[in-house]
Formats: sequence, C-alpha cells, structure tokens
Amino acid sequence: MFGFNREKELLGLDIGSYSIKAVELKSKKKEIEELYEVKKIGYELLPHDAIVEGTIIDSAAVVETIKMIFDENKISNKNITIGISGNAVIIKKISLPSMETEELAESIIWEAKHNIPYPYEETNVDYAILKPSQYPEETNLDILLVAAKKDKIANYSSAINQARKNLEVIDVDVFALQNALEVNYPEIFNEKTIAIINLGANITNVIIIEKGIPQLFRDLSLGGSFFTENMSKDLGISFDDAEKLLKGLPVKDIEPERFQTILNMNVQNIIEELEKTFSFYEAGEKKERKIELIFLSGGLSKLKDLSSNFEQKFKIKTDIFNPFRRIYFDERKFDSIYLEEMAALFGVATGLAIRKVEK
Ligand SMILES: Nc1ncnc2c1ncn2[C@@H]1O[C@H](COP(=O)(O)OP(=O)(O)OP(=O)(O)O)[C@@H](O)[C@H]1O
Ligand SMILES: [Mg+2]
Repeated sequence: MFGFNREKELLGLDIGSYSIKAVELKSKKKEIEELYEVKKIGYELLPHDAIVEGTIIDSAAVVETIKMIFDENKISNKNITIGISGNAVIIKKISLPSMETEELAESIIWEAKHNIPYPYEETNVDYAILKPSQYPEETNLDILLVAAKKDKIANYSSAINQARKNLEVIDVDVFALQNALEVNYPEIFNEKTIAIINLGANITNVIIIEKGIPQLFRDLSLGGSFFTENMSKDLGISFDDAEKLLKGLPVKDIEPERFQTILNMNVQNIIEELEKTFSFYEAGEKKERKIELIFLSGGLSKLKDLSSNFEQKFKIKTDIFNPFRRIYFDERKFDSIYLEEMAALFGVATGLAIRKVEK
C-alpha cells in the first residue's frame, strides 16, 4: 500500500506482539500461472511487553529479534515489507462515480477527510480500486480507502532502520491474508464467501471475501494473550505456566478440569465477538449474504478443538488456513514437519511476500 517499489522481491516481515515471522518467496511464471517457492523462512518469539497495544515499546528487543531472524536463517535480502493492523489502520470501502484519475485523487482526499476518524494530516492515505462491479448497469467504482496513522508507521520504520533493513512497503495484515488465500486456494477464491480469522496474541484480524472481493475488515482486540492473562489470574499461576496450559502442556498442581472451564469461557468470548462481526456482515446489504467457509490462522488457531468449536457454533465449515498449500518448498532445505506444524502462523508473512513479488 504505502510504498514506491513494487518490482523487487521483498521479504515479508510480520511483526506481531508475540512473535516475528519472516517469509521470502521466489516466483516464476508458468504460462499464465504464477508459481511460488519458499526461499527463506524465519520465526522468533518476542519478549513479553516488547510491543504493547500495537506500539513498539522495547525497540532494542524488536531490533535484536529482527537481526536474529536474518542471521539465523541466512537471509540476505534487506528489502522488506511489513503489515500493520489494529486501530492505527482504518479501511473503508467507498463507492464513487467513475471519473478520471486526477479527479479521483481529489475525491479520495475529500473522502478520507470525511471518513477517517483521525485528522487527515496525521495519516498516510492510499487507495485501491476493487474489481469492477458484478452489476454492469452500475457505473460506480468500489474503492478501498486505507489510512494509517503516521506515528504508527514512524514507530515501526524506526525499528526496521535500526535493524539496518530497508522498509520498502507498508501493507495491511488483512490484505496480506487475502493475497495468501488467493494464491493458495484459487479454486474457491472467486467462488465462495470466505472468512479468514487470524487469531494472534492481542489482535484478531478478520476479513470476509465474497467471490474474490473483500467486503468486511475488522481488527478485534482479542487473542491468546487475553487467554493467558485470564488463566494466570483465575488459577493463580505465572504467565509462562498459563502459556504452557494453552499449548496443551501439563502444569503441576493444576487440574485439567479447572483449566478447561476457564478456557471454554475464553473461547466462548471470542465466538461471541465474531458472531457480532458475522451478523453485521450478513445483515449489511440488499442481497442475501452467507459465509460459506471459515479459515483460522495465527498462533491461537493451534488451540485444540478450536475449529470444531467454530463449526459447531456457526454451522460453517472451518479449516486451518495453510499459506503453503500451493507454495513449493524444497524438503532438503526446510523441515517439512516443522513447516506443517508452523504453517498456521505464516499467513500474514506469506501474504506480504506474495504481493511484493507481483510484477
Ligand atoms: N500451540 C498453541 N496452542 C494454543 N495457543 C498457542 C499455541 N502456540 C501459540 N499460541 C498462542 O498464540 C498467540 C500468538 O500468536 P501469533 O504468533 O499469531 O501472534 P502475533 O502475531 O505475534 O500477535 P498479534 O498479531 O496479536 O500482535 C499467543 O497468545 C500464544 O499463546
Ligand atoms: Mg499477528
């Protein structure tokens, strides 16, 4: 979105509050199809509280972790793209009559000033024209307006600069997820209404894509760190022990039933929040809307039984999103078991890397 160079192959860096993930892809064209291969991949945990409420607090820790990912995985490409999310990013879908490019640029500024809940001067604004309407009689352009707070961008780009990398493009997490979906699930991308729910530590990104066209975006304040916080409070255990329980590991003196009760309440909470988002979407338009498929990604999607809980509640088929489903990786270079195990975490990073290899 906010960048100048779309030609280079860039490293997708997903800086989350719990972990940083990196993906670099190679691409080649085969007839009309673009084929991708994993060139580099990296993952490191961040210290707790290095990033709080979407702001890098401990930049030294983030810088060190970025450097570590590059060193340990022998990544030489310094040109990176990051994704941003949370309330510093506003995405609005607007509809404007067809017009010339210059006129459009002016209208976009006007729309941004009226649609974005932050002073225009404090944001960077970009836009993308969505695919032409499915209804030929409509002459309107559907446009995605994206505004990101400048202080958020400065906060992240400063960390990247300190790590001696070049921040080439700033993208948005939900768009990265959409790109990863398109490349990996081409047979359904343009056919079905699909919700991707990326459950992280502090943010849960939601995007609903209807026959290839994004219709709803939400970044909810939900995720695994709320689970671990609640568990450590309610069970009187450390944050680290709560993490262990969440990952299905035993913790001394904790009865599984007690833990399960608290876990169920937290899962229920997430489901209720998502139910509101889904209802908002389904009630939104003149024509009938129905989500046909849910994909879960992110660290919390690894929670045992989460997809079956979703299926039961929403009565919608729910799968774990695989961002390497149609991306080749050389089994001599990468441990396929590890990649399979970790795949759910790499949705955003892979999507970031995909967009940037587009020529
Ligand atoms: N095996 C597992 N089972 C359940 N939860 C897990 C598992 N592994 C990680 N988590 C949880 O997933 C969360 C981290 O997910 P992820 O790495 O996607 O977050 P993030 O992208 O760093 O954070 P955010 O984008 O929200 O700032 C943590 O809360 C962690 O406790
Ligand atoms: Mg994340």
